[in-house]
Amino acid sequence: PEDIRVYEFAEACGKSPADVIKVLFSLGMMVTKNDFLKQDELEILGEEFGISVTVKDALEDVNYEENYDEEIDTSSFVIRPPVVTIMGHVDHGKTSLLDKIRSSKVAAGEAGGITQHISSYTVIKNGQKITFVDTPGHEAFSSMRTRGANVTDIIIIVVAADDGVKTQTEEVISHAKASGCPIIVAMNKMDKETANPDMVKAQMAEKNLTPVDWGGDIEFIPVSARTGDGIEDLLENILIQSELLELKADPTAKAKATVIESSLEKGRGPVANIIVQNGTLRVGDNIVCDTTFGRVKAITNDMGEIVKELGLSETGTVLGLNEVPTTGSSLIAMDSEKEVRDIATTRAEHARAKELSKSTKVSLEEMSGLI
Ligand code: GTP
Ligand code: MG
Repeated sequence: PEDIRVYEFAEACGKSPADVIKVLFSLGMMVTKNDFLKQDELEILGEEFGISVTVKDALEDVNYEENYDEEIDTSSFVIRPPVVTIMGHVDHGKTSLLDKIRSSKVAAGEAGGITQHISSYTVIKNGQKITFVDTPGHEAFSSMRTRGANVTDIIIIVVAADDGVKTQTEEVISHAKASGCPIIVAMNKMDKETANPDMVKAQMAEKNLTPVDWGGDIEFIPVSARTGDGIEDLLENILIQSELLELKADPTAKAKATVIESSLEKGRGPVANIIVQNGTLRVGDNIVCDTTFGRVKAITNDMGEIVKELGLSETGTVLGLNEVPTTGSSLIAMDSEKEVRDIATTRAEHARAKELSKSTKVSLEEMSGLI
């Protein structure tokens, strides 16, 4: 956006214009104090000064309501499905729980066709969609969070009722709290004789996650991924939380999605598993994702079926990027091939320039050590 000049930016973050110019100069960008800053320059300055720069541009914003206030036309906004992330200690049954939810919710016969590993999918409960994301470990989630990919609306913490709160449960609790998302606790493995839901509640209450029936505000749902008991209850609770959040987005907008997983597949090329956060992604769309770009060649849904588009909060895989994108990065559809190519190329150049400036700094330091 052509609306902030170098000196205005400097003023706004308490630096001198010279500081700003120096940073950009070290990256090969020549500006004077009266020049307008480009979006990429703002991003770099933000990183350099350790401040968060909110760029008011459709490119980077998901949360239209927050960043645009009245400016945005909300007439085409609709309620979107919630994105629910499942977290918890190793072996407490996250994947089993999701498998159970999925198999009981998708049409019989279709489930068998899945061959590749899919960690996110959409199910329908009472005519309403819910998108789930499995987390294989907390690292994956934290790296996504630090990249600002706040794709999650609701967090489910799975705690095995026979095992209770463990080290990774604790880590997950702090991630969940930091995210500000509503939390639901699923007490799993209730079919086991040794299951002790009161122990789980007490341990969680100690971490300030107090059950509703103990006067707190966190729902604790007893479930069994083995028998399926409690799963309906869990899904209903998710829908209640989701309604309270009033999640809205614009299905008519150009797509913006987040990359959940990515890989290079033989015969298919770079593959990105995404969740659509706004708009609708269609085959043929020009897309940019980090420093990669391309045109959507094919989309498969979470069942591995070929589809023409992915809608709000839906998940699937996208083919057509020229390189494997980073997990957690934003995939954005734009009008022309030129636009996506230009943005990807500029970002790649900046990344290279930044690497270069790092190594230059190091060698200068090394040199000063020698002198
Ligand atoms: P990671 O992805 O490694 O963190 O594990 P996870 O949390 O996804 O656990 P997973 O679903 O792989 O389950 C671990 C083990 O617990 C498996 O042997 C499951 O069969 C078992 N298990 C999961 N849920 C239940 C349950 O409700 N009851 C019983 N009895 N066993 C369960
Ligand atoms: Mg798992």
